[in-house]
Amino acid sequence: MAWINDNYLKLKAGYLFPEIGRRVRAFAEANPKAKIIRLGIGDVTEPLPGAVIEAMHRAVDEMAHRETFRGYGPEQGYDFLREKIAAEDFGKRKCDIAADEIFISDGSKCDTGNILDILACGKANCIAIPDPVYPVYVDTNVMGGNTGAAGDNGSYQGLLYLPATEQNNFTPDLPAEKVDVVYLCSPNNPTGAAMSREALARWVDYAKRNDCLILFDAAYEGYITDERVPHSIFEIPGARDVALEFRSFSKLAGFTGTRCAYTVVPKSVTGKAADGTRVDLHRLWLRRQTTKFNGVSYVVQRGAEAVYSPAGREQCRKLIDFYLQNARTIRWTLHEIGLTAFGGENAPYVWVKTPGGMSSWDFFDKLLTQAHVVGTPGSGFGAQGEGYFRISAFNSRENVEEAMTRLKAKLA
Ligand code: MLT
Repeated sequence: MAWINDNYLKLKAGYLFPEIGRRVRAFAEANPKAKIIRLGIGDVTEPLPGAVIEAMHRAVDEMAHRETFRGYGPEQGYDFLREKIAAEDFGKRKCDIAADEIFISDGSKCDTGNILDILACGKANCIAIPDPVYPVYVDTNVMGGNTGAAGDNGSYQGLLYLPATEQNNFTPDLPAEKVDVVYLCSPNNPTGAAMSREALARWVDYAKRNDCLILFDAAYEGYITDERVPHSIFEIPGARDVALEFRSFSKLAGFTGTRCAYTVVPKSVTGKAADGTRVDLHRLWLRRQTTKFNGVSYVVQRGAEAVYSPAGREQCRKLIDFYLQNARTIRWTLHEIGLTAFGGENAPYVWVKTPGGMSSWDFFDKLLTQAHVVGTPGSGFGAQGEGYFRISAFNSRENVEEAMTRLKAKLA
């Protein structure tokens, strides 16, 4: 008999997005004529940039000849991409990050979950997680046995939740106590808030004083429009001693289905072994990746490299501007209706307060059944998300405009 990982039994219902999918499918089956517009999961809709397509075509052609064919690549990514990233994403911002500190992967969802492999599991670490938050951080900690059971509001015992609310501009305050690991995400999913340089510097300072590891998710970095907002935690002096950073090509270049991301693990970040010795996390992550991962395909890495070409940059900029224009349309419409909305300026998400204190799922059902528009209930991102709703800007202009017309008709 195989004994299961009982921690999975602690997980609340399904993962948020499949659960939304289930409800939407049930509605669609019962109402086959309804034209449903999906602004729920943050999945891109526009084609890949031309420069990426061309680079991938060239790479496919290379695979057709023995001389240029590639089998297994380096698990941590090809040098051509790691070097490009080090120079373009970090060197140009004066961040001290070397190419061999960059690990190419197939997604930030995987990386933010897998990183727990190299940290002590069980209750050894005090782990702080913002609330609301991208559900993967919480659920992977549950799976790894780092939490107790969930309470009625969905929060798990054993995690320290850091409220990100209207009162603190959706930027979590420093905890009064000492924590070992903290997740931060900026620009934020789900609230759309972006952390200022000062706020990020406070966290780096906290981490240094408390020997705390920051897991910094910058998957939406490409959406930053405010020049005062840092694009990388490594823009903050000292961060390379305390932080790892997760980046993705998904929302930057439309790679949600193509799959390419990377994680920065500076060689100077260490953790403590059970016997008290300091061990660098880079060594452990390298070991983990070379054992459990066989790398991202050559073709896809060539596509990702093309994101940094002059044409690729311009095309990605257009793509992002397109989605940000959708976000402005959404935010503007919500204001017109008289709802309070946040985000959408440095992120592709608008975070709206539900009207009349309605619960997040009730609002979800109302929009689905009355307007045939799908969003994401804020409570799915944590207890503090109750009473909020996330609307994603990822869709065609036509669909976003149509969805907003319907919202005006049903909510104004
Ligand atoms: C979201 O909707 O929050 C994201 O698309 C999920 C993800 O990136 O995995």
